[in-house]
Amino acid sequence: MGKIFVDACKGLETPYTPVWMMRQAGRYLPEYMAVRAKAGNFLNLCHNPELAAEVTIQPLDIVGVDAAILFSDILVIPNEMGMKLEFLKGEGPVFEKPIVTEADVDALIGGKEASSKLTYVYDTIKLLRKQLDERGDDIALIGFTGAPWTLATYMIEGQGTKTYNICKKMMYSNPALLHKILAKVTEVVKLYMEKQIQSGIDVVQIFDSWAAAIEPSKYNEFSWKYMVEIADYLKSKYPETPIIMFPKGVSAFIEQGLVYGNFDVFGVDWGTPMAMAKAKLGDRYVLQGNMEPCRLYSKEETTRCVEALQNIMGGKRHIFNLGHGILPDVPVENAKHFVSECKRVSKK
Ligand code: CP3
Repeated sequence: MGKIFVDACKGLETPYTPVWMMRQAGRYLPEYMAVRAKAGNFLNLCHNPELAAEVTIQPLDIVGVDAAILFSDILVIPNEMGMKLEFLKGEGPVFEKPIVTEADVDALIGGKEASSKLTYVYDTIKLLRKQLDERGDDIALIGFTGAPWTLATYMIEGQGTKTYNICKKMMYSNPALLHKILAKVTEVVKLYMEKQIQSGIDVVQIFDSWAAAIEPSKYNEFSWKYMVEIADYLKSKYPETPIIMFPKGVSAFIEQGLVYGNFDVFGVDWGTPMAMAKAKLGDRYVLQGNMEPCRLYSKEETTRCVEALQNIMGGKRHIFNLGHGILPDVPVENAKHFVSECKRVSKK
């Protein structure tokens, strides 16, 4: 199809290095706030395909990125596995009844039944596929999921956490129960991502936002191996669909060679030196990233970082992005500056 972003994911030459931003559809855009107000709240917006498609498209026209990321949230998965979810103002996501016992895990809706309840996501993708094709500007659509570990942290803690003490207590005192949760989530995610591909996404990204909460010697056992299982499943059926792995905060795991598998792009977080990631992973994977998102508060610091990344990567096997999500108080003007600078420095 010749989409610049898809070509870059496959390691092919492109006229410039494509760019997008994690969390590019969101609160820093007044246009997003207006649509969210129309929907009533964040979850309603995720459940409404017309409005979710509208906010997915917004950053293409406003900021000029080369890929759209489906508007949804990683937590719709546990929500459809039967866990009641609310997004509280100022507090973020909260599950009413976190998982404590084996009976709680057995009560979760699994596999096919849970994945087939996520119809609003598939409907959003189908609508976006049609809208993007009609635009005819070769913009790729990224679908996504949370890694089983990152999802499990919310399912066990009931909300965001600084210490991860509840899920880590389970990791060290009842690992079998944690594995039972991770395996059940993995089965849902495989079918969920397969349906996203069938509905029209071009590329898959797996977010392991809380990878760094696990010590290196336990990372494979409790997170990476489940991400690899999902990637292997998708690659066996859809070898042409590129997969991006984004485990955040894993500089040490890269140095120890803990993050290999059958995928195409490695998302480099902002705490990892790009030159080190290139030396260790650059021959095997296309690298995505990795500007520290807070550099967006200064146009000068943004330009410096974009130029430094271009010097390291040389416009080859690279996708520009932030090293984590854009924050809500970033001026739109500065986000536009980031995107246009990426294109300026990499144009061939
Ligand atoms: O633009 C995009 O990137 C697409 C949409 C997207 C959202 N969440 C929308 C959202 C994506 C890809 C996510 C992923 C997500 N959700 C992750 C992994 C990525 C990451 O940043 O590490 C995680 C950990 C979550 C869970 C989550 N959702 C939290 C912790 C919160 C509250 C904190 C926050 O940033 O507000 C959310 C809410 C959320 N998800 C919002 C958006 C736009 C804000 C909701 C609002 O409008 O108030």
